[in-house]
Amino acid sequence: MRLFLDTASIDEIREINRWGVLSGVTTNPTLVSKEHEDPEAVWKEILTEVEGDVSLEVTDMSSADAMEEQGRMLAERGPNAVVKVPMTPDGLEAGKRLMKSGIRINVTLVFSPAQAILAAEIGAYIVSPFLGRIDDSASDGMHALRQICEIYEVQGYETNVLAASLRHPMHVVDAALAGAHIATMPYEVFTKLVKHPLTDIGLEKFSADWAALQHELKGGA
Ligand code: E4P
Repeated sequence: MRLFLDTASIDEIREINRWGVLSGVTTNPTLVSKEHEDPEAVWKEILTEVEGDVSLEVTDMSSADAMEEQGRMLAERGPNAVVKVPMTPDGLEAGKRLMKSGIRINVTLVFSPAQAILAAEIGAYIVSPFLGRIDDSASDGMHALRQICEIYEVQGYETNVLAASLRHPMHVVDAALAGAHIATMPYEVFTKLVKHPLTDIGLEKFSADWAALQHELKGGA
């Protein structure tokens, strides 16, 4: 399972990128707005920093034509750009046209297996079910993800399943078990993946024992 960061913050991206585990980034209009900068500059910096796929979302959702036009402009930002279109009739129409012309699309705001089937049928590169938001609406996001992965397997769909809206490390572990191809998560979740109390305790003990040995060799008591 490839690991993506769900952010538009270049500092967060640089920090996780140095670990050598970052395969891509997902952004959305909300995340970009949090940077309070020119979106063009934000997108450009991310596309340059990250080698893998970077999802950039259309913001003019007034018609299929408008999304297609903006999608084409976003795709020109870099060879690693993936265009995010929403799960709506217009989004599907624009997405299919973009895929046909060789532009990779990520169908976003997906909340059910039925919607995921539609994304696969237009040949989307990525489908993004939002697990955390499904949980927020008192349904089981992980169950929906498992169903989507199973349907894609049974049907032989080639669309990549990207588990999105992940809120904690167990979401990531369960998404991997379910067979998701990609998991995208906020910086806070990414940094929790590396942490374990026993790692910290072990480090403290190793450091203390090593320091005690140095002290002893120098003739200390
Ligand atoms: C994915 O591409 C979305 O940007 C994201 O996962 C949404 O997550 P949220 O529900 O935490 O906003």
